[in-house]
This record gives sequence, structure tokens and C-alpha cells, in this order.
Amino acid sequence: MAGGSSAEQLLSRIASGDGHGENSSYFDGWKAYDMDPFDLRHNRDGVIQMGLAENQLSLDLIEQWSMEHPEASICTAQGASQFRRIANFQDYHGLPEFREAMAKFMGQVRAGKVTFDPDRVVMCGGATGAQDTLAFCLADPGDAYLVPTPYYPAFDRDCCWRSGVKLLPIECHSSNNFTLTREALVSAYDGARRQGVRVKGVLITNPSNPLGTTMDRATLAMLARFATEHRVHLICDEIYAGSVFAKPDFVSIAEVIERDVPGCNRDLIHIAYSLSKDFGLPGFRVGIVYSYNDDVVACARKMSSFGLVSSQTQHFLAKMLSDAEFMARFLAESARRLAARHDRFVAGLREVGIACLPGNAGLFSWMDLRGMLRDKTHDAELELWRVIVHKVKLNVSPGTSFHCNEPGWFRVCHANMDDETMEVALDRIRRFVRQHQHKAKAERWAATRPMRLSLPRRGGATASHLPISSPMALLSPQSPMVHAS
Ligand SMILES: Cc1ncc(COP(=O)(O)O)c(C=O)c1O
Repeated sequence: MAGGSSAEQLLSRIASGDGHGENSSYFDGWKAYDMDPFDLRHNRDGVIQMGLAENQLSLDLIEQWSMEHPEASICTAQGASQFRRIANFQDYHGLPEFREAMAKFMGQVRAGKVTFDPDRVVMCGGATGAQDTLAFCLADPGDAYLVPTPYYPAFDRDCCWRSGVKLLPIECHSSNNFTLTREALVSAYDGARRQGVRVKGVLITNPSNPLGTTMDRATLAMLARFATEHRVHLICDEIYAGSVFAKPDFVSIAEVIERDVPGCNRDLIHIAYSLSKDFGLPGFRVGIVYSYNDDVVACARKMSSFGLVSSQTQHFLAKMLSDAEFMARFLAESARRLAARHDRFVAGLREVGIACLPGNAGLFSWMDLRGMLRDKTHDAELELWRVIVHKVKLNVSPGTSFHCNEPGWFRVCHANMDDETMEVALDRIRRFVRQHQHKAKAERWAATRPMRLSLPRRGGATASHLPISSPMALLSPQSPMVHAS
């Protein structure tokens, strides 16, 4: 066994600990999917993967581009003349043409409202590597970042595992659509200080995963001012910047610090970006730290030796990203397809009265199943989630795994599948909800008349611990309600 608490622990404390976060329910759902993956032709009863924020909707456009541009690959007759130059390249500054293309593209995604300096673009292994690098540069073990909830679960790994940073929640609520307020931020900041924790940064994701919403200009300006006033870093994960498909438009922190907060201390502002979501290229492992702080750029660049992007990938992307006409077409078409998918999914849920938080970005919806909980607890949420994963066979992600303080919210990814699979998933959800509504109605009706419900015994113990309104009780074949009907 690798871990252990004995005095002769073989590995480092970090390696032996569970800081990777693999034990979270977020990953449990993945395991269920791995054991019985849905396939339209070969396994129609399998688990549908809706826990993976992956963009498969526009890959055909990239495939098409690469076929029309064989010179972008060093492994084709048209591109082989570059083979030696590229295969021999290993400078951690990255190919100049790659950084230039990346900076130009980042500006294009932000509708040309802001320009990026190629000399501030630092390569990392995905946005995952970018966060790890930033945490290494910005904070010491035990320092904290404040993070609005709900937030991307793997931040617990990316920011904390190696660097020992703590993430402290800034509690956001459904009452204002989980909008971050200055009051909540100040309350989290003061709370940390009272506990003697040094706050080194505020970490936001804009557009948000899991909410699928964009942050407005005023909130971003408030954050930039707060960072300047309190000398804390503002780290903005903008990985979904190019996946905004409806109004309001995306506003980048880059734009806000230029236009709205003239006195902003730019040394505190850092952006993490990646091509994993907007292009659906997580396998390329292309992440970026874009920092306005020269020292962070210098240190992150040295760090990038640990997570360099292959020069072959840089070469290919340099060509593709600098094709401005293709990029414009790609971004417009991708947004159109994301909108169509989102609208269809949300409308399908509405048919059975299930609402989602109004979203305009991302590859998922934040689904409100609060009305289906046995009670307003995280246990009840996980109970419902287990039914959805194991009986309804949809791997959605429970709000608790995103540190959401209000039970009953679920993130459902819908851009990682074809239309037909999405319809199967929708059908399953609708059938499940209707079943629940039907039972709930029957229960209400039964509750109005005097009756004695006798519950059978299972394994010597009474099964009455299963609450009657529990979806577990609804669907489990051993359920007293199933026996009663
Ligand atoms: C908000 C956010 N940041 C970072 C990542 C990690 O992305 P990458 O594949 O570039 O490491 C994800 C992936 O789901 C994400 O949603």
C-alpha cells in the first residue's frame, strides 16, 4: 500500500494523502459510467455520461480544417519540411508563432475589445496545469483563495494538492441566481482573517462551471477593486470564454481592468485559459497562464518545463489559430450549436416542470431538482443522485460536489454527446420525474384519507427508514411503496 500513517511512511505526505479528491461523488459517477457505458447501438441500457464537460459539437469543423491544411502537420508530405525544426524544439518559452497566435486568438474570443501580449502567454498542461502553476507562484502552503460557490470541483486538486493552498467558500445563493455580491466576498474575507488565515487570492470562473452563466462587468470591476484594496490576487479562469452562446456577452477581466478600474493594481491579475472547452481539444493539453505580473510570468515560464505542450501541437495550433477567418466562422458556428443544444435540453426538461438556472454559456445546465428531495439536506441530495446514477442511469453531478450550499442542484452536461443520445437522456429524466410526480400525487391523496400503511420487514429490520417520498423508495424494487402498489 502506498499511503499510511506509520512513522516509516514510504511516500511523501502529499503523495500518501487524498488531496487529489478522487473520493468525491463527482468521480463516483464516472466510475458508474465506466462500468456500464451507454452506447446507442450496443448498450442502450447503459449509463449516459452527463458528468463530463466536454465539447463534441463542433469537432467536425476542426477535422475539416486539418484536412484542408495538411501543411499544419509535420507528419504529412506537405508539412514534413518542418519536421526537424519542430521535433527538435524544446524551449520552455514556446514557439513564438504559437504564443502570437494564442494572444491574437484570445483577443478575437473577446470580440477584439482587448489585446493580449504574446510575451505574457505562458504554456501549461491545460487549465489544470495553469492553476497548479499559479498556486505555486502566488501562495504558500496554508494560504487561502476565496472561491464563490458553487465551483468546479477539481480546483480542490489543482490549487491545493501540490501547493497546499486552502480554498474557502464565498457563499452564493439561488435567491439571486448565485450572483457573487460584495457582502458575501467581504464576509468570507473577514471570516478567514478572524481564523488567522492569510488570504492570497480570489479565484473565479467566468463563465461559470457549473452555473453556465457569465459574470457581469460591475461584479468584475468590484472584484478588481477589492483585489487592489486588499492586495490579494484575482485569478480568473476564462476557460469557457469562447463558449458563450447567448446574451449577455462575455466580459473578460482583461477588458474590465483596462476600461473600468483605472487604478487597478495589475500585478494582482491573472487569467487561466485553455483550448479544452471552446475547441473540444482536452487531449491536446493546451493551457495558458496570462499574467499581468512580470515576476509571475517569469516564474511560471520556468515552471512550464514541467508541463510543456508538445511542439507538434504548438505548430498545428499556431497555424489554425492564426487563420482568423476560420476562427471567426468556428466561434460563430460553435455558439450556434451550443445554443441549439442548450435550448433543446432546457425545453425538454420544462415539459415536466423541471427548471434550470437561466444560462448563456458553457457545456451544461444547472438543473433544479430541489422539489424532488426528501428533505433539504445534502444527504437527501446524494440519495436522489444515487438513484439518478444507478436507476435512471444518468451520470449527472450533484451540487454538493461543487460545494453548493443549497441541496437539490445538479450539473448536467449535454455537449459531449450526439442529438440522439441527448434525446434518450431527456426521455429518461422525464420518465423519472413523471413517476415521481405520480407517486407524490398518490401520496398526497393517501395522506388525506385515514389509512394504515404496513411496512414489510427486510433482513430483520424494518424498512420504514426509507422515507415515503424518497426517490429511492420510488424506484427500488424492494421499496415498500412498490410492494404496496
Ligand atoms: C472551470 C474549469 N477549469 C479548468 C478545467 C480543466 O481544463 P483542462 O482540460 O484545460 O485542464 C475545467 C474542466 O472541466 C473547468 O471546467
